Amino acid sequence: MSNRTDRRLHLNAFLMEAGHHEAAWRLPQSNPNADFELAHWIKLATLAESAKFDSLFLADGPVTQGTGEFRSPGQLEPLTLLTALAAVTEHIGLIATVSTTYNDPYNLARRLASVDHVSGGRVGWNIVTSATEAEAANFGLDERPLHADRYERADEFLDVVLKLWDSWGDAAYVGDKASGRWGDPSQIRPIDHQGKHFQVAGPLNVPRSPQAYPLLVQAGASDAGRAFAARYAEAIFTASQTLEHAQEFYGDLKKRAVAAGRDADQVIVLPGIVPIIGSTEAEAKALAAELDDLRIPEYGLLALGKVLEVEPKELPLDEQLPQHVIDRPTAREGFKSRSELIIEMATSERLTVRQVLSRLGGGRGHNVVAGTPEQIVDILVTWFEQGAADGFNVMGAALPSGLEAFIEQVLPELRARGLFREEYDGSTLRDHYGLPRPQNLFDATAARNRRSA
Ligand SMILES: Cc1cc2nc3c(=O)[nH]c(=O)nc-3n(C[C@H](O)[C@H](O)[C@H](O)COP(=O)(O)O)c2cc1C
Repeated sequence: MSNRTDRRLHLNAFLMEAGHHEAAWRLPQSNPNADFELAHWIKLATLAESAKFDSLFLADGPVTQGTGEFRSPGQLEPLTLLTALAAVTEHIGLIATVSTTYNDPYNLARRLASVDHVSGGRVGWNIVTSATEAEAANFGLDERPLHADRYERADEFLDVVLKLWDSWGDAAYVGDKASGRWGDPSQIRPIDHQGKHFQVAGPLNVPRSPQAYPLLVQAGASDAGRAFAARYAEAIFTASQTLEHAQEFYGDLKKRAVAAGRDADQVIVLPGIVPIIGSTEAEAKALAAELDDLRIPEYGLLALGKVLEVEPKELPLDEQLPQHVIDRPTAREGFKSRSELIIEMATSERLTVRQVLSRLGGGRGHNVVAGTPEQIVDILVTWFEQGAADGFNVMGAALPSGLEAFIEQVLPELRARGLFREEYDGSTLRDHYGLPRPQNLFDATAARNRRSA
């Protein structure tokens, strides 16, 4: 853990259609079709930027979510949407989720590098391995690859994209009209990758960006996910219900990063929080209850069944989780860490399925806190100071109102305590997260070879 006293919080606005609460779209002020309307996203992005958030983030999966009866089942492709948002913002980081299981490294390295250029070096990539059978069925597979195999592919995927992004040296572009030399071909090099999953010649056809290449973000918390994060991730999204759980995750990730030869301060851990804010605790609880009352249990059952990989009819509403569901091994091949978190919460607190659905409705397992601005600040500061977080994924239960309330009522107190920036002091996403621009692997190797020659 860091001993620095000048630490400041990093805040990422995790955006989701009309809000993270599954019934947010039903509030009187909400737009039920927000997912597909650019004006909604521009409003959220400019709002988060005006408040100087480090970044905004879009989750994703190449599949419909649910049947469409009780909530929007689709969403725009995040890199496409972020390209539009890059044009209407100047500073805020833009993080998109993209799967390593259902993409090819060359195409994805190129798309990510292109958006990183278009945005002036503000892009982040939330690297996921795609947990569901339904995703596999969209890509010609009879069943999804095993958890361990997905992470093995992700590992080689990262090896390839990092080499592609570094296939251009920073001095590749010359632009000398007098001599007619556009570039220096010795700086644009093949990668000749021959691996188990990929054979890629390279070089990439896009140069390094102002921040070199997109910030690497990761969001899986299983053992394999943590090992992967420790090797590659510069920022880590995570879900924790309690301070103790978050401290365990934070301490373990920092330890693993150091064991992998990295600086613990350069791995930014961001747990999610869904703040439901009222001027009194009673007002906050009333807002939470209003949202809870709008939930449709049938939707919650479908969503819970998906994460635990059981049929909704196997989840009796007024009983605790059945033992066969708790013991079921297949869920561990899918949403491994999230299914474990839900089972732990349900069994340790002896919750009925109905109570579990109520707890998950606000943020799918993220920490939902209904309280006054002071109570929210206390939690953020406690987690930040007690080794559980370097910042937070701020998840508005309803959007934009949840983000507006956080900006107007919580940020001023964090700023008064010197815990959050007043202005951006850099231009790239890595600048905002206080991370260095990565050295070019090829240039570093060449320099080493020159020294030893
Ligand atoms: C904040 C957060 C956001 C996530 N976003 C996505 C996402 O957009 N798409 C996805 O497939 N998985 C997402 N995940 C889930 C994990 O990345 C992962 O797919 C799943 O938990 C399985 O990996 P694990 O077993 O290592 O935890 C997210 C997790 C967290 C904590």
